[in-house]
Amino acid sequence: PKAGPCAMVIFGGGGDLTKRLVTPALYNLATTRLLPDDFAILGVDHSDGSDASWRDSLTEMMQSFIGGTGEFDPSKIDMTAWDWLKERMFYLKGDFEDPKTYAAVKDRLGAFEGSHKTGGNVLFYLAVADRFFGTVVDKLGEAKLVQPDTDDDAGTAPWRRVVIEKPFGHDLPSAQALNARILKVLNEDQIYRIDHFLGKETVQNIMAFRFANGLFEPLWNRDRIDHVQITVAETVGVEQRGAFYEGTGALRDMVPNHVFQLVAMTAMEPPVSFDADDVRSKKVDVFKSIKTIEPAQAVRGQYDGGVVLGKQVKGYRESPKVDPRSKTETFAALKLTIDNWRWAGVPFYLRTGKYMTTRTSEIAIRFKTAPMALFHNTPSADIAANWLVIRIQPDEGISLQFEIKRPGPAVDLKSVKMNFAYKDWFPPQQNVGYETLIYDVMTGDQTLFQRADQVEEGWRIVGDVLHHWGKVPPEDFPNYIAGTSGPLAADLLLARDGGRTWRPVKLDPGPRK
Ligand code: BG6
Repeated sequence: PKAGPCAMVIFGGGGDLTKRLVTPALYNLATTRLLPDDFAILGVDHSDGSDASWRDSLTEMMQSFIGGTGEFDPSKIDMTAWDWLKERMFYLKGDFEDPKTYAAVKDRLGAFEGSHKTGGNVLFYLAVADRFFGTVVDKLGEAKLVQPDTDDDAGTAPWRRVVIEKPFGHDLPSAQALNARILKVLNEDQIYRIDHFLGKETVQNIMAFRFANGLFEPLWNRDRIDHVQITVAETVGVEQRGAFYEGTGALRDMVPNHVFQLVAMTAMEPPVSFDADDVRSKKVDVFKSIKTIEPAQAVRGQYDGGVVLGKQVKGYRESPKVDPRSKTETFAALKLTIDNWRWAGVPFYLRTGKYMTTRTSEIAIRFKTAPMALFHNTPSADIAANWLVIRIQPDEGISLQFEIKRPGPAVDLKSVKMNFAYKDWFPPQQNVGYETLIYDVMTGDQTLFQRADQVEEGWRIVGDVLHHWGKVPPEDFPNYIAGTSGPLAADLLLARDGGRTWRPVKLDPGPRK
């Protein structure tokens, strides 16, 4: 169903995020008719501009769209939908720190209530650099643009919701401070902290896979599972983001947010309902059961020059705006344990890195091997374990690996796979990953957004590693070649646990043709 009437204010309307993700997502929502009929958008940014120039620059961007995901085809733009959206877009020049900006926003919102029947409902989208998050929220409060709902008017008064982007803090104290600051102005149920991994279909599907099937859940525990490997391997390098990345690194950029979302989805208990807080509480329970990771359980890496997807690339230290002696990691691997009844003794190994062999994000569950090797006299004496692999991207799907007898007179085993691929079952969707998230804000569903406690737990878990890495410089950087699966130390992290190995970072070649 369509979302109800509202206005959307995008702080950072001229920025990269608005161009690459928010606008294409709004357009995709327009094509699927999920945006409200009574709708208006106000882009706010520092630079000069008019309604016409903002609309033109976004039109140009849409027509030459390369996007974050490459899943958007500019030659197929539905101009009727784009025009529908475009004529609802307005621009306001304003400084984010200046109260006058907020007074002007208030005027425009008042006007929209008349011209676009937005009903006083407003979604404020903070597509700004993180140093402005606190400021914008404070100013919205001072301008009385975001009065929290009171219990009396809950459900009847117009709603005001605020979307906050990543990064939400850079460690536990800064995340706590930001939460405390914005919670002075807003109620938790007005705050939508985005982690765009939760916008991915495959990530949302983990709950359906686990909790809509009777088959897997009985196996989903320490009795049957040996360990879990979560990989988010990228084939992009730091590109033009050196200035941001130098102070961030792979751990902060990817782990307590994106990778931990995958951990939570995999490890959480069944929620009592799919209400936002029931689901989010179960995720927080997972994090609470994870001890703060010791630095000895973490490995960092930085890429040197190499060949990625057939292209020669430079080392991280030679990238623009990067210190030639940079100590920033572009790869991180961690081992964690979840100390609860379901998972005690089952290690979760996590890794993520830039410029790796292929782009692969997956959750791989390794089951315990058969209790007896009845086949020990056969040529394949080593019975392979069963693996269930949830492929997040690309080549989205799920596969289950098991053993069968190779045809022929000898008893010989072979690992084969049952494979579900989204592309075999569903037509491709034009989707940049923000569609569901924006729609959920409009309809007031916080399930796919991070609650304050979840963000803080994430930072707490990696706190000691961050601290240690900040204090003790790496001695071996750069320590992996671009286009490989990361530093040797990451292999040792698993090898020392009884000779375990990472799954190769490569796309599944599939069966013989
Ligand atoms: C972002 C990180 O949050 O996620 C980037 O800042 C990273 O460094 C990106 O490349 C990965 O997201 P996706 O959707 O491309 O897998």
